Amino acid sequence: MNTLIKTKIALLAGASLFMVACNTTHNNAATTTSSNPYAKQVDSILNLMTLEEKIGQLNLPSSGDITTGQAKSSNIAEKIAEGKVGGLFNIKTVKKIRDVQRVAVEESRLKIPLLFGMDVIHGYESTFPIPLGLSSSWDMEMIQKTAQIAAQEASADGINWTFSPMVDISRDPRWGRVSEGSGEDPYLGSLIAAAMVKGYQGDDLTANNTILACVKHMALYGAPEAGRDYNTVDMSDIRMYNEYLPPYKAAVDAGVRSVMAAFNEIHGVPSTGNKWLLTELLRDDWGFDGFVVTDYTGINEMVDHGMGDLQQVSALALNAGVDMDMVGEGFLTTLAKSIEEGKVTMEALDTAVRRLLTAKYELGLFDDPYKYCDLERPAKEVFSDEHRAYARKVGAESMVLLKNDNNLLPLKKEGTIGLIGPLANTAVNMAGTWSVATKQDKSNPLLDGLKTVVGDKAKVLYAKGSNVDYDLEFEQRITMFGKAIPRDGRTDKQLLNEALQVAAKSDVIVAALGEPAELSGESSSVTSLQIPQVQKDLLNALLKTGKPVVLVLFTGRPLAIVEENENVPAILNVWFPGSEAGLAISDVLFGDVNPSGKLTATWPMNVGQVPIFYNHKNTGRPLGNKEGKFEKFRSNYLDVRNEPLYPFGYGLSYSTFEYSNLKLSSNTLSENGSIEVTVDVTNSGDYDGKEVVQLYIRDLVGTVTRPVRELKNFNKIALTKGETKTVLFTISEEDLKFYNSELNFVAEPGEFEVYVGTDSNASLMASFELIK
Ligand code: BGC
Repeated sequence: MNTLIKTKIALLAGASLFMVACNTTHNNAATTTSSNPYAKQVDSILNLMTLEEKIGQLNLPSSGDITTGQAKSSNIAEKIAEGKVGGLFNIKTVKKIRDVQRVAVEESRLKIPLLFGMDVIHGYESTFPIPLGLSSSWDMEMIQKTAQIAAQEASADGINWTFSPMVDISRDPRWGRVSEGSGEDPYLGSLIAAAMVKGYQGDDLTANNTILACVKHMALYGAPEAGRDYNTVDMSDIRMYNEYLPPYKAAVDAGVRSVMAAFNEIHGVPSTGNKWLLTELLRDDWGFDGFVVTDYTGINEMVDHGMGDLQQVSALALNAGVDMDMVGEGFLTTLAKSIEEGKVTMEALDTAVRRLLTAKYELGLFDDPYKYCDLERPAKEVFSDEHRAYARKVGAESMVLLKNDNNLLPLKKEGTIGLIGPLANTAVNMAGTWSVATKQDKSNPLLDGLKTVVGDKAKVLYAKGSNVDYDLEFEQRITMFGKAIPRDGRTDKQLLNEALQVAAKSDVIVAALGEPAELSGESSSVTSLQIPQVQKDLLNALLKTGKPVVLVLFTGRPLAIVEENENVPAILNVWFPGSEAGLAISDVLFGDVNPSGKLTATWPMNVGQVPIFYNHKNTGRPLGNKEGKFEKFRSNYLDVRNEPLYPFGYGLSYSTFEYSNLKLSSNTLSENGSIEVTVDVTNSGDYDGKEVVQLYIRDLVGTVTRPVRELKNFNKIALTKGETKTVLFTISEEDLKFYNSELNFVAEPGEFEVYVGTDSNASLMASFELIK
């Protein structure tokens, strides 16, 4: 059993305060800057601290008396009393946190309060859709509000620091953690990063319902070779700066107060020990002045990366710019020696300590270490009806309608509905991956939601239909952390027969299939993007009945569902919608909510196309035909066309939207000037609905090659049926900037094309010239 699993189990089991610790400091760089309003107070504490106490501040154990990756846990309470712990993470409930904080502020010599961190990734107990789903809403206000609600609930339960937002751009659905990010686009990803930071931190960190955010994983963690988690990343600077770094920077610009170093290497040096990354780029170029924490045993893992022994890698991390050591105890056990031997300076250690103490001042913990420990708050503020109602709304907004032949959807609340599939009645899977605080068993499964929403207007029949997979061992690997879908005692044939009996009695079949929650997330990489075969067989058998079939697809990643797209008349991709999943899905199935989600990651035709993304380069040999037919000696495949199954930005509605009248206010753009882009969008269908109007720009000629198009703006609008709205965008030189081969951020004069439409294939086009 690996470290993370153990941690999570400890957490879910209501782990005690006893656990592991570890810590780090950071290198040179001025600390007592005049911009730090707490500089004086921080220094007065620093002056009182022993070397051991300083190192202790940089130590971040996880809760639970557990063994971690490469380090051994030990009695945490004792360490806290000795001043050897700066913070603790993944400990749940305000009561336990209050007890632990008491040890720090009553039993330790200097009474320095602790930080309490947690992976509050997409909600706390009221859980919102997985981040990839949330991003599909393209609704920044809503995303920010989900983070604000998460902060309110977490802070009510004692937490003052979340390890979110996760902003790793990824173009590789094999990587399980695509579920945790916002997809493939740097522009959209940056807006979401900023919205989440603002949601968590609010305007005032000293309030008791705002918490520290931590942008992760710095950097490029979403681009591991072969999509395998924790694998090597090797990337050109120009790609890094233009395509992968922007969301981290956006979080820094939005004021994020902490940053988590990634597991992967960059330029051949693990992020955790990478001074260029954590000091030169992050602090010197971007101006970040918060603190940097490692990922789980990130320092210790540098031993396996081949960077030296524990003392060497701990010194490397501190000198690179790491301030806090998560779990591995490299700092705790080796920094004193490194200082003695001159491998780390006292100044570097002090710098890191100052950063940690400053964060605690910023949170107001020195004024009141129990400010997040009001025992009365959880009952009122956590998992409240209001938050759950919001989770239901957000769940519905994140869903993406992938196909809807002959308007099979929305369904009518009448007749008999056959709900079939292994994901139809599993509460514990509805919150999706990385939902450590969720109330798993209180989540609303589809079967319950469906029954509630149809009431007595229709009859709902249910059959499980199949297990998750034919292969029991694989099934066990993908249904962990208490998210099992119990293996059925019946044979595959018996399960199928029952499903066919239900189908025979039904007017319409809703097939709830796909991935269970832990088939995506950390350490959940795959080499096949198919729905498990047993479920495909079930689906085909249901289709053969001739009854109308709606596929409700659960997934944490883009899937290659070519066959399903061909054969199933309606496909609603629901991701993992969160605590109110069943209700949210039913709201969409019956048209109480018209779906408006749009994909934020490209869905491939097959796994061999990966990595596939819309903002690719043209190459010197692009295809010459629009239909995507094979051409010899052109950049394409013999066996599959270049186009994806569903492009970035794609998503249907029960209504239809027409675009016309694309106009630019001018055909030239001068420095400091702007161009107005207008387009008419008409709801030409039979339902009121929402549409994400997307604007892409192509830079036709550059000193370096430029992508075939890039998202530069969008607007999610509501249109009643028959309504037309004119949507206005403004383009300025800033929108045309990119990092050139000297890594200068510039806009180069020349021709640009503007595309506006419903997805990244938008074809309405106008052009202009940038004159400088
Ligand atoms: C993950 C991080 C997470 C940390 C603490 C690591 O395994 O990579 O995203 O914040 O654990 O739980």
